[in-house]
Amino acid sequence: MSQHLFLPLVMLAMCPTPGAFPDSGKVTELREDCGRPEPSARILGGSDAQPRSWPWQVSLHQGGGHVCGGSLIAPSWVLSAAHCFVTNGTLEPAAEWSVLLGMHSQDGPSDSAHLRAVAAILVPENYSSVELGADLALLRLASPARLGPAVRPVCLPRATHRFAPGTACWATGWGDVQEADPLPPPWVLQEVELRLLGEATCQCLYSRPGPFNLTFQLLPGMLCAGYPEGRRDTCQGDSGGPLVCEEGGRWFQAGITSFGFGCGRRNRPGVFTAVAPYETWIRDRVMGSEPGPAFPNQTQEPQLGPREPREENCTIALPECGKALQPGAWPWAVQVTVPGFRPCHGSLVSESWLLAPASCFLHSGTSDSGPSDLDAWRVLLPSQPHAERVARLVLHENASRDDAADLALLRLRAPVNLSAALRPVCLAHPEHYFLPGSRCRLARWGRAETAPGPSTQLEAELLSSWWCHCLYGRQGAPVPLAGDPPLVLCPAYREEEEAGRCWNNSGWTLVCREKGTWFLAGIRGFSGSCLRPRVFAPLQTHGPWISHVTRGAYLEDQLAWDWGPEGEITEPQTCPPHTEHGACGLRPEAAPTGVLWPWLAEIHVAGDRVCTGILVAPGWILAATHCILRPGSATVPYIEVYLGRAGASSVPQGHQVSRLVISIRLPRHLGLRPPLALLELSFRVEPSPSALPICLHPGGIPPGASCWVLGWKDPQDRVPVAAPVSILTPRLCHCLYQGILPPGTLCVLYAEGQDDRCEVTSAPPLLCQTEGGSWVLMGLAVRGSQELFAAISPEETWISQTVGEAHFLPPSGLPYWFPESGDLCPPDLAGASGFPGAAALFLLLLTPLIQGW
Ligand SMILES: *[C@@H]1O[C@H](CO)[C@@H](O)[C@H](O)[C@H]1NC(C)=O
Ligand SMILES: *[C@@H]1O[C@H](CO)[C@@H](O)[C@H](O)[C@H]1NC(C)=O
Ligand SMILES: *[C@@H]1O[C@H](CO)[C@@H](O)[C@H](O)[C@H]1NC(C)=O
Ligand SMILES: *[C@@H]1O[C@H](CO)[C@@H](O)[C@H](O)[C@H]1NC(C)=O
Ligand SMILES: *[C@@H]1O[C@H](CO)[C@@H](O)[C@H](O)[C@H]1NC(C)=O
Ligand SMILES: *[C@@H]1O[C@H](CO)[C@@H](O)[C@H](O)[C@H]1NC(C)=O
Ligand SMILES: *[C@@H]1O[C@H](CO)[C@@H](O)[C@H](O)[C@H]1NC(C)=O
Ligand SMILES: *[C@@H]1O[C@H](CO)[C@@H](O)[C@H](O)[C@H]1NC(C)=O
Repeated sequence: MSQHLFLPLVMLAMCPTPGAFPDSGKVTELREDCGRPEPSARILGGSDAQPRSWPWQVSLHQGGGHVCGGSLIAPSWVLSAAHCFVTNGTLEPAAEWSVLLGMHSQDGPSDSAHLRAVAAILVPENYSSVELGADLALLRLASPARLGPAVRPVCLPRATHRFAPGTACWATGWGDVQEADPLPPPWVLQEVELRLLGEATCQCLYSRPGPFNLTFQLLPGMLCAGYPEGRRDTCQGDSGGPLVCEEGGRWFQAGITSFGFGCGRRNRPGVFTAVAPYETWIRDRVMGSEPGPAFPNQTQEPQLGPREPREENCTIALPECGKALQPGAWPWAVQVTVPGFRPCHGSLVSESWLLAPASCFLHSGTSDSGPSDLDAWRVLLPSQPHAERVARLVLHENASRDDAADLALLRLRAPVNLSAALRPVCLAHPEHYFLPGSRCRLARWGRAETAPGPSTQLEAELLSSWWCHCLYGRQGAPVPLAGDPPLVLCPAYREEEEAGRCWNNSGWTLVCREKGTWFLAGIRGFSGSCLRPRVFAPLQTHGPWISHVTRGAYLEDQLAWDWGPEGEITEPQTCPPHTEHGACGLRPEAAPTGVLWPWLAEIHVAGDRVCTGILVAPGWILAATHCILRPGSATVPYIEVYLGRAGASSVPQGHQVSRLVISIRLPRHLGLRPPLALLELSFRVEPSPSALPICLHPGGIPPGASCWVLGWKDPQDRVPVAAPVSILTPRLCHCLYQGILPPGTLCVLYAEGQDDRCEVTSAPPLLCQTEGGSWVLMGLAVRGSQELFAAISPEETWISQTVGEAHFLPPSGLPYWFPESGDLCPPDLAGASGFPGAAALFLLLLTPLIQGW
């Protein structure tokens, strides 16, 4: 998890080597001076440097491209970082390296640019890795540099030199302009103003868990520069380059760019090698060179600012994005109006950029070169009285091919001033892991017509990655691990008042909250029809594209780190078998909602008794006829069904689902009253972790399965209990209950002491978890019995014809209904009426008992 954040700032992607550089040239006289560039205008912020403003900056090339920066400290010496040259504990040969001096743009040679071979590379003996310090190196050039206005050495500080915290200094380099975003052509040297941070302040920031819950211990010889709020920083490719501070008209090199945690992240300033402590080391190495580096005396007292805060008292920067006064009043909600079309809803992602669906703008008038009528477009921002203008439209390159890339960025003519009523939403880095149970809401997106009613106010809870992928993904599909980019995001909404209504998915984005900060987590889902089941495409995979285009969108670090059990899962998981109607029989290990048996229903019959029911399809419950219909009564009673309950009180009310029963269906049986009844619900129950159909077993007993009787200990409080059982072989069952069993009855044996867990009047079900992980229904208790169950499989045809969407799994396992023959019964069992006392028959059992429930 951590390795891709804890990065030395060497170049990962290289720029091409520029054309030929003159390698010769006579050595001009060294001026007495160091650290004095020609006066020039300087641009503030991370931006192009003016030519000749940093004449000591060099580019170190290896294998044909820029890898690191460095600084000229004497005609024949360059200072850089050790980690540029040490790979896996071994110093790379000097001959592989060359030094480019007097460069401004990597694009091509200029008059002053020239190349020098490297004669020797020196690194401290005890350098091992960047986070252990001593990250500096000296390069001796094969021949002295050609000094001039564009090539001059920088001054080095003496060991006693003090740079005051708060001093504004400058870092320069050709490194990435953002994380994983290389400097674009023509590769002009970049400069950024950074403020020195005191050791205590910096340690205080790094002691607070940041990305990936990482903290870091600064060591002597390290120096921090940057800002608690981040955003301006050095990045990959800047390593070895100088951090310079001006004093009395000279530039002193205070630091060498070493490493960072990401680039420009909040509370994670850049870490530099402090140069002053290495005065002696440098002097010893360059001894004898004439002229050597200059170490001018510090002429002015360091201006020590206000007393440095102590470790426990530093100002931690808080996220600047994603704060809303109340859910629904989103300060980033914008509307773009294109003449002739309905307004398109999008989100503010920075001071200058909006994100919206590309499909809003993919119409005539939009060509590859951009729409011609941008002048006429208008943007309405929250709390702003006047519409803003659009300066630029950037469509995602895959926008028209891929629903999950239906994205466009629009740049405003002028940046907005952020305020509490107008601020961007946070975006996530690709590795962001939205925790199961995260609180989410909906926000408008695109041109959806229908108003959502109460939907935006409905709080949703993010499902665990296993539920989300297995509910909507394919059977056998691998479940992404925590921290890998997810394929889908699924929020579980509480059942809505207007259940049965269907809202269009594409008109909404999913915003999720972490520690009070809202992230734009997902965009339009894959299901084209209804809002339910709700699946959103994760936006985080587009984070790099958005930050590349906008150079300033608020990509915020993960703020919540309690990954729970899911974060510890390192073995890939796959989804249990599905049927043609989708997922069935998934059971959460520990659902955030507390519902452990999503298919277990309470059937309240005419307000007078409660029976167990099992959800077998979105609109159908299977129950025992004898519990639902009292003997002799011909009228259909008033029946209510509740799902998503786990006892009278332990589950949040919002996860409960209730339905009326509109019809009761019984199979045609000659003579006897059929044992199983199907109850048709007033409307469908959408799949969710608190209401999901079970799988049905089509006959036989699943091999290797563990089986349970699931019921209530007490019909009053209805806390579900499961008693482990073994299903007896048909032969054993037949022998034990000879003569009294209706055909198609299953017999079970309880684990010791478990036989009184469930009461029987509510007709508890018998179910098994198959080897594939799915839960299957085997049967329902016959009247008054604890051990005998009316099997589902003989009624497969009737159930399939009545329900249509019943989740029958493909046949597997031993056939159950082989011919009965009393002759096969062991003599001492034949005709035995009760079961207990048959422990010796364990060998004949088909399914083993589970111990340790
Ligand atoms: C690093 O060195 C170790 C042992 O010295 C070796 O096993 C490993 O393969 C090396 N790794 C690389 C990337 O060269
Ligand atoms: C390296 O050695 C020097 C001198 O022996 C010492 O001052 C310094 O702390 C050491 N650095 C590391 C990273 O061990
Ligand atoms: C620098 O300071 C040292 C003592 O702090 C002094 O001996 C030396 O003469 C000074 N050099 C210059 C050039 O002022
Ligand atoms: C923290 O620092 C602020 C000023 O920077 C000061 O007012 C406050 O008293 C300090 N708190 C503690 C606990 O030191
Ligand atoms: C567009 O799709 C192609 C092919 O799937 C992919 O390689 C490319 O990275 C996508 N572009 C972006 C910006 O995601
Ligand atoms: C932003 O604030 C500055 C200074 O307060 C003001 O001059 C400028 O007009 C404001 N810009 C907008 C777009 O409101
Ligand atoms: C959802 O929106 C799409 C595109 O606007 C439309 O084709 C589809 O019919 C809508 N579906 C529903 C159920 O409204
Ligand atoms: C984060 O790190 C701290 C200290 O290193 C540790 O106590 C805490 O348990 C970690 N939190 C998580 C969620 O890993």
